[in-house]
Amino acid sequence: MEADRVEKPVWIKHASQLATLSQDGKGPRVKEKMSELGIIEDGSMWLEEGVIKAVGTTAELEKKYGEREKEADIVNASGCLVTPGLVDPHTHVVYGGSREREFEMRLEGATYMEIMNAGGGIHATARMTREATEEELIEQTTWRLDSFLAHGITTVEGKSGYGMNLETELKQLRVMEKLQQTHPIDIVPTFMGAHAVPQEYKGREDEFVDRLINEMLPVVAEEKLAEFNDVFCEKGVFTPDQSERILEAGKKYGLIPKIHADEIESYGGAELAAKVGAISAEHLLKASDEGIRAMAESGVIACLLPATALYLREQAAAGRKMVDAGVPVAISTDCNPGSSPTTSMPLVMNLACILMRMTPAEALTAATYNAACAINRQDKAGSLEEGKQADVVMWDIENYQKLQYFFGVNHVKSVWKKGIRVV
Ligand code: NIG
Ligand code: FE
Repeated sequence: MEADRVEKPVWIKHASQLATLSQDGKGPRVKEKMSELGIIEDGSMWLEEGVIKAVGTTAELEKKYGEREKEADIVNASGCLVTPGLVDPHTHVVYGGSREREFEMRLEGATYMEIMNAGGGIHATARMTREATEEELIEQTTWRLDSFLAHGITTVEGKSGYGMNLETELKQLRVMEKLQQTHPIDIVPTFMGAHAVPQEYKGREDEFVDRLINEMLPVVAEEKLAEFNDVFCEKGVFTPDQSERILEAGKKYGLIPKIHADEIESYGGAELAAKVGAISAEHLLKASDEGIRAMAESGVIACLLPATALYLREQAAAGRKMVDAGVPVAISTDCNPGSSPTTSMPLVMNLACILMRMTPAEALTAATYNAACAINRQDKAGSLEEGKQADVVMWDIENYQKLQYFFGVNHVKSVWKKGIRVV
């Protein structure tokens, strides 16, 4: 999707609701703070030079910018909700091929782990990703990024992890680096060489962990290709001890830990996230009460993925309980070819309400400000405040409740990325 080259300022006026998500502090929001959306009625914004110059009521902005009206593109947002660009803090967006046959197999009774242990699942995508050229991966990833934008998402995290060898891990990260330069969406890269133990290392798992630590991490760090380091800590994949070694080694290179934790079985992943000071723990379907407490105490963000739970026909994570326990909660698509082939954060917000009993306001916070915190972008994205990037979505509905009330419907009307209209 090409960004229109609009150099003019943009003046959005008369939004029925402008949900600013504006913040008084820097950390992620917890408990009742997750319900404070900073709603302005008859809202207005002035976007210029890629940033938000002013946010307020239309009357307030008339006073400030009335004289410059002729310079700007005027957008009449009456009848519309305006929100920050959504942030998707957990995706596996760069991959080759697809796995629709596994979807059928699961419906016939096979489990996710059985398919993976038989050489399918992550291993199947790794084979297809190893075979794909950089150009092919760029092409396949581009349509997913376009689809993200069309659903109101202006920033995504992206993980490597479909190579599990240096060459392909670097290929995936370089694809993200290139797309970052050519595609309007912001991509925040995570190294996930520890997504699975490659089949060629079966029975020699620790050897793979050593190689990842000694041969992959230093190169990824040296080439500055990632900000975060993620591990699939799961029974039959990486043990908590192996995960800890990998995450601690990454920290020495400045890579911030993230963990795929307690997805299929309760395995101490949430506890480990607190122990290693992870910025976030992902999935958490089977997180223990102790793990939830530990996360609340250390401020680890729970990145919950209800679309994955739905797609795997599993009980979703205990989102309500986590919010009430004071865990900062973010939500994400987990966009990947196996357990969540979707690019729709609006669907994920809806599922956060239905499957995890979060409120519409909490779901919006989890998909914007808290999501930005989960990838360290809270200074630029996740709320509509002066000086932040002008990443803005206009929805063809009047209030934020309707955003979660509808499902499977895309209400995006327009999207601005750094002040430029992209949808
Ligand atoms: O977050 N659980 C592990 N990783 C991904 C799925 C990857 C795949 O199946 O390709 C996830 O769900
Ligand atoms: Fe994932």
